[in-house]
Amino acid sequence: MELPTSDAPVSDIPLSVRARHTHDQPISYFMQQAVENPGLISLAAGLVDAESLPADEVRQAFDEILSRPRTAQAALQYGTTQGFHELREKVLAHAAALDSRAPADLSLTPGNVVITTGSQQLLYLLGEVLFDPGDIVITEAPSYFVYHGILASLGVRTMQVPMDDAGMNTNALEELLIHLEKTGELERVKLIYTVDYFQNPSGLTLSLPRRRHMMELARRFSKKHHLFILEDAAYRELRYDGADLPSIKSLDEGNRHVLLAMTFSKPLSPGLKIGYGLLPTELMAPLLRFKGSHDFGSCNLAQHLVHRLLDNGAYDRHVARLCDVYRAKRDALLETLAEEFPADTPGLRWTRPEGGLYVWLTMPVETGPDSAFLKAALREGVLYVPGQFCYVRGAGHYPKNEARLCYGVAPIEQLKEAVRRLGRAAVEVGAVPACGLAR
Ligand SMILES: Cc1ncc(COP(=O)(O)O)c(C=O)c1O
Repeated sequence: MELPTSDAPVSDIPLSVRARHTHDQPISYFMQQAVENPGLISLAAGLVDAESLPADEVRQAFDEILSRPRTAQAALQYGTTQGFHELREKVLAHAAALDSRAPADLSLTPGNVVITTGSQQLLYLLGEVLFDPGDIVITEAPSYFVYHGILASLGVRTMQVPMDDAGMNTNALEELLIHLEKTGELERVKLIYTVDYFQNPSGLTLSLPRRRHMMELARRFSKKHHLFILEDAAYRELRYDGADLPSIKSLDEGNRHVLLAMTFSKPLSPGLKIGYGLLPTELMAPLLRFKGSHDFGSCNLAQHLVHRLLDNGAYDRHVARLCDVYRAKRDALLETLAEEFPADTPGLRWTRPEGGLYVWLTMPVETGPDSAFLKAALREGVLYVPGQFCYVRGAGHYPKNEARLCYGVAPIEQLKEAVRRLGRAAVEVGAVPACGLAR
């Protein structure tokens, strides 16, 4: 299968080193496939459920904002680089309340909050603030591949630590940090990146003991330099069962080490593209200088809108409804997997996430772009993200037999049909025995 490459010579235009290190995401190819083949059911795209997007709530909030001159003018004018003050107060109170804490308990004020154009912009800005080429970032293996793209364009060396059902293996993280200290590279390690709730791509969540251990490691290995944890909690509010876990941010006494990235894209609407960060005080001024150069403030109208939805309770009601929608979708996917894939097949397993949008499937055969399984899946009319794209090339050996299945986009009946198609593809390539069910 032809995947796009950006290594090809690009005439004689003198692109920057950074531009030359910024590659197309291999995933774009897979997104394109879904757009171009209407019969295909895509479990690849990490989009959200379309039918439950909050159109009525957003229309009403827009009407309210625009129908009064004072609010209309405030929302349609430029805002500030750091973001609408009332929204910063609201998101701070909201994020602290998720941990049953008050902002002051976490040494946080609205001055520690920045509103960004999605959390993606925050991830990028933090990279600009913190990294020089050759610096090191440690991530989970597998991890959020779009972040890997940022790290590559900034010339960062990414090291990956294995995960299991309790999230990143923090003993392996500790060993890696000890090793890097021995080799004199500890000060190059700028941060540990974790998607700690229902991770994209694996659906796994970091356990409480490991949250504490990671926090302890960040403190212990901040010797001559400062080691940060970037806690990307994009999916935190999409929990369908089980008890919530405290954020790593809430364990960060004195607001010293943890950079918390949150977003309204998943629990509300990605079209609004509003995210936010809760950051240590020392990082605010440098970050805002970069944000000032980028855009001197994210869309002010969208910020006023999100503020209103938080303020009038529509946001909380929406999240509660959304969790019901996604719980049903997740269950449909897991139940159909159990029907189609014989559980006792050696080498076959999948995660059972308590929230988020992803199930991680491990197959007894290869799943990569050139694999017989992916080709058979495409013939059957179903697409997934080959798991190998979620590992960093050059950061050691990585498995080639995994797949990310997203249950966010397709309606329930299509999800079931998609898994039946995957099941037929698996039988076709001999990955699982035909179990006599009507396929
Ligand atoms: C783990 C993770 N972090 C960050 C983002 C960025 O999302 P946004 O910029 O829309 O907030 C995504 C989007 O899929 C994600 O999965």
